[in-house]
Amino acid sequence: MPQHSNRQLIDCRFEDHGDSVLEIFNDAILNTTALYEYDPRDHATIERWFSDKQQHNFPILGVLNEKNRLMGFASYGRFRPYPAFNTTVEHSIYIHQDFRGLGLGRLLLSALMERAVEQGYHSMIGAIDAENTPSIRLHQQLGFQPTGLLPEVGFKFERWLTLVLYQTILSN
Ligand SMILES: CC(C)(COP(=O)(O)OP(=O)(O)OC[C@H]1O[C@@H](n2cnc3c(N)ncnc32)[C@H](O)[C@@H]1OP(=O)(O)O)[C@@H](O)C(=O)NCCC(=O)NCCS
Repeated sequence: MPQHSNRQLIDCRFEDHGDSVLEIFNDAILNTTALYEYDPRDHATIERWFSDKQQHNFPILGVLNEKNRLMGFASYGRFRPYPAFNTTVEHSIYIHQDFRGLGLGRLLLSALMERAVEQGYHSMIGAIDAENTPSIRLHQQLGFQPTGLLPEVGFKFERWLTLVLYQTILSN
């Protein structure tokens, strides 16, 4: 894995990074529309999430700072649970609020795309809230194109939410 002076890309493990992943997820659930969830997740849910990823050989990439603190993570999983979709993955990416805007999102998403190519996937999809400008710009920068618009499919923070699908076809 590439190593920089103050950022190291790793594969996350529940034992080492479960608590940080839980904290980052729950901040995004409570304060953003990145996730269309209302309630914080608990420890057991995160443990199941890790073990489900491991069972299907889906990566959970993380980025650590020089103090071994997890600054963000990115992962993917099945897009839809039917065999003909098996070459497509849906990914997600979360940077801790203290470390946004530092290039970590681009670092993690690029690494995740490389891993998807290595694992032989053909297509990656990110489902992004239409108001999530940072995420939309990040995806556009890495070559994702908007391929679907789902108006008012969510309701959170007392307003309707529109979802945009951003997709890239990988080189496989
Ligand atoms: C969206 C998110 C993953 C971006 O990661 P990040 O580390 O903050 O972004 P980076 O510093 O790598 O920036 C990469 C590009 O994203 C865009 N971007 C990042 N922050 C931005 C902001 N506040 N406003 C507009 N564009 C922004 C820019 O195009 C930027 O490229 P540039 O620096 O050359 O202009 C991160 O902000 C985050 O975790 N947000 C909360 C959770 C979330 O929304 N996850 C995505 C769910 S789909």
